[in-house]
Amino acid sequence: MSKTVNIDWSKLGFTYTKTDFRYISKWKDGSWDEGALVEDNNLCISEGSTALHYGQQCFEGLKAYTTVDGKIQLFRPDQNAKRLNKSCRRLLMPEIPEEKFIDACIQVVKSNRDYVPPYGTGATLYLRPFIIGVGDNLGVKPANEYIFCVFCSPVGPYFKGGLAPVNFIVSEYDRAAPFGTGAAKVGGNYAGSLLPHKEAVDKKFADCIYLDPATHTKIEEVGAANFFGITKDNKFITPKSLSILPSITKYSLLHVAKEYLGLEVEEGDVYIDKIDEFKEAGACGTAAVITPIGGIEYKGKLHVFHSETEVGPITKKLYDTLCGIQFGTVKAPEGWIVEVK
Ligand code: PLP
Ligand code: COI
Repeated sequence: MSKTVNIDWSKLGFTYTKTDFRYISKWKDGSWDEGALVEDNNLCISEGSTALHYGQQCFEGLKAYTTVDGKIQLFRPDQNAKRLNKSCRRLLMPEIPEEKFIDACIQVVKSNRDYVPPYGTGATLYLRPFIIGVGDNLGVKPANEYIFCVFCSPVGPYFKGGLAPVNFIVSEYDRAAPFGTGAAKVGGNYAGSLLPHKEAVDKKFADCIYLDPATHTKIEEVGAANFFGITKDNKFITPKSLSILPSITKYSLLHVAKEYLGLEVEEGDVYIDKIDEFKEAGACGTAAVITPIGGIEYKGKLHVFHSETEVGPITKKLYDTLCGIQFGTVKAPEGWIVEVK
């Protein structure tokens, strides 16, 4: 039976709301158990868990969308499953079968149906799958036991204002080492970004942009989103680097820009001292969706792209097409949408 959830969907930010059910599966002696939905949102784990001491954990983020005709759908969950497993391989954690991952996401959405924001509210249901190393342990080595969990929370925009431009500042810190864990979605990358983020916010920027750790000359990404720019001759360009998180939104936009908007696209070097080649720029990610970048401050100078207050026309088209696919008003490429029935 449907219950009434008292949430003002359009006022939601990117914050935690406790929902009714989460999915948990445990790994021990070489295999995952069947997994089940549970009501308790607390995990009880050993004080020796490797996730707590050595950061042996990784996570994902994806969303469920209510379509214009009232269906609920997931966007490319197979890509999140693949990326989670890539992170697992990097941290010597057991992989999750792709079908188990998608089935867990579907179970979580279905069991929390009342928390899926209605179409047109600007909100979505964010799913947070994660795996942690648990069990009694002391030495620096992979855990003998693991927990895979998927919880969800209705969310609004990650950056204030949604499609309103925000400004970023180039960080003097590195997010990841050249051959470190930057391409894996592991908690340690985010722990290291808390201080740079705070310093950026204290200076009234929405977040910071990291440069490549080896030469500090090229844009890598934002703390929680990838970067893209539109050149004056209408090319969609996004950084290529071994130390950025391979954003599913970014790869989706590379496809959308080329196949739906007819733009030339490129993954390549984006030099910080050549950003004036871009007439528009944006940050993209599951949480960030597409956030237009008003300007970037570098060495004390703010470079403004299209405008600090208005979204550029190509960024707007990318946003409308991507969101159209996610909310079911634009035909999706084969295999991108999984309906939650
Ligand atoms: N970069 C970082 C560091 C992120 O945390 C995220 C969020 O997942 C992204 C980029 C965007 O990736 P995706 O589009 O797969 O959500
Ligand atoms: C996402 O976009 O899913 C993220 O994980 C970004 C951030 C909330 C960590």
